[in-house]
Amino acid sequence: MKPLNVGVVGAAGKMGKELCQAIKDAGHVPFLGFYNTKQPEGFLHNSNSWQDKKNEEVELWIDFSLPDNFEVSLRGMAKYGKPIVSGTTGISDVQKNILKEVARQAPVLWSSNMSIGVAFVNKMLSLFSSIKDFDFQIEELHHKHKKDAPSGTAKTMQENLESAIGRAIPQTLSVRGGGIFGVHRIWAMSDQEVITIEHQALNRKVFAEGALKAGLSLMKKGPGLYSMKDIF
Ligand SMILES: NC(=O)c1ccc[n+]([C@@H]2O[C@H](COP(=O)([O-])OP(=O)(O)OC[C@H]3O[C@@H](n4cnc5c(N)ncnc54)[C@H](OP(=O)(O)O)[C@@H]3O)[C@@H](O)[C@H]2O)c1
Repeated sequence: MKPLNVGVVGAAGKMGKELCQAIKDAGHVPFLGFYNTKQPEGFLHNSNSWQDKKNEEVELWIDFSLPDNFEVSLRGMAKYGKPIVSGTTGISDVQKNILKEVARQAPVLWSSNMSIGVAFVNKMLSLFSSIKDFDFQIEELHHKHKKDAPSGTAKTMQENLESAIGRAIPQTLSVRGGGIFGVHRIWAMSDQEVITIEHQALNRKVFAEGALKAGLSLMKKGPGLYSMKDIF
């Protein structure tokens, strides 16, 4: 594949930095760093305006920013008609509907977790349909700077688990501290035994590489809303 011009929204953030490196490592071009207040480093061009002419040269957009400006960023990216991957978490149901709306203009993939391992765990959750009577609890641990709780990943896991067992489970337990990249634990408990499934992200690279991989697979797709299930 020829090197692609990649635009990153939230380019000055922790994930933005990680993406800049992942894009280079994969032989593509960290072309445009879209920022809010702080200038990103490592991109050929920086921009904070959706009117910027340079935006037209972006061939793939990846957004890891914050929910406040989600609608403006999504509509901004979508007007160019190029594939969009968003990993921004903490978005509301109204904001999720905007994803559906802009997916009429471009291929769009949103996921609360871009790692292959979490995609695999989400698939495994359907197996709990055969032990519906167990008690279930999800736990998530993240670094102390994480703004949303429970994590978007835990919310997705809870939705998948509840749909497998056909009932609601208690609210996810959230722990915030230190520099934890992300731990998710699912407990299934009966009087006689306990099953625990745990996923640990060992670094942020796993999310950056997963997002880029997802974006590259969107290059062959038409407008529509896609999920990690469509990719892996
Ligand atoms: N899906 C996944 O796999 C996954 C994995 C890790 C993290 N995340 C999520 O990704 C997001 C970013 O995480 P992070 O750790 O990188 O956070 P972070 O370090 O706080 O970075 C967020 C960045 O977004 C920027 N930003 C906010 N609004 C913007 C806008 N309208 N346009 C451009 N940039 C904007 C902020 O800039 P200013 O500071 O200048 O406002 C900041 O640089 C969060 O929602 C997080 O939960 C998802």
